[in-house]
Amino acid sequence: MIITVDGPAAAGKGTISDYLSKKYKLAYFDTGMVYRAVGLQMVLIGEDLSNKDAALKIAQNMTFPQMMELSIHPDFRSDIGSHAASVISVYPEVRTALLKMQQNFALNPVFADGTPANGVIYDGRDTGTVICPQADLKLFVTASTEVRAERRHKEFLQKGIITTYQKVLDDMIARDERDCNRSAAPLKPADDAVIIDTSNLDIEAVLAYIIPLVEAKI
Ligand code: DC
Repeated sequence: MIITVDGPAAAGKGTISDYLSKKYKLAYFDTGMVYRAVGLQMVLIGEDLSNKDAALKIAQNMTFPQMMELSIHPDFRSDIGSHAASVISVYPEVRTALLKMQQNFALNPVFADGTPANGVIYDGRDTGTVICPQADLKLFVTASTEVRAERRHKEFLQKGIITTYQKVLDDMIARDERDCNRSAAPLKPADDAVIIDTSNLDIEAVLAYIIPLVEAKI
């Protein structure tokens, strides 16, 4: 069983994917991590994000263990990491270099401790369109920009990161713009994706809608 969950930032993809991965024993691949790892590595070595060749070199050499190591850095999920990931993910060569690593995950899905999983849940922007077009179920989760910025702002405050709603909203608009308008694998629903707008739904309502879709595929 392969499920893809695509959509813009803070639409609810992570919460949905995490729940489904536990309920159906699916290995969870948050594909944003590969772009965050490359982007953060660029920042850490002081490389300009506009240096496509440098980003490509890092992407070509990126390994799972290196990605996991970078993922515990404080800026991996901060606005610095988000911005860097969004900028380097525009480069088609970087995307191509990171493609196989993401696709191969579905060949032998295992949990972090090595135990076999019943399948994979991919979370990202292009997992239903590019990474795994053969997925059993494709979800496209979205919400209004204002609602997503409100959620992200609340998350930042809970983590003790001081920022304003306006800054989070402005960053989100800029990131959406880059993610949706890049030439390679722009953010858009696959033709056969189920589109879910979570703007006015709580997580229980979203899951009540999705679970029957998953059960129908089992
Ligand atoms: O899901 P996220 O916020 O961690 O993603 C960070 C950035 O990575 C996002 O702005 C665009 C890029 N990304 C992508 O281009 N394709 C994916 N499948 C996942 C993320």
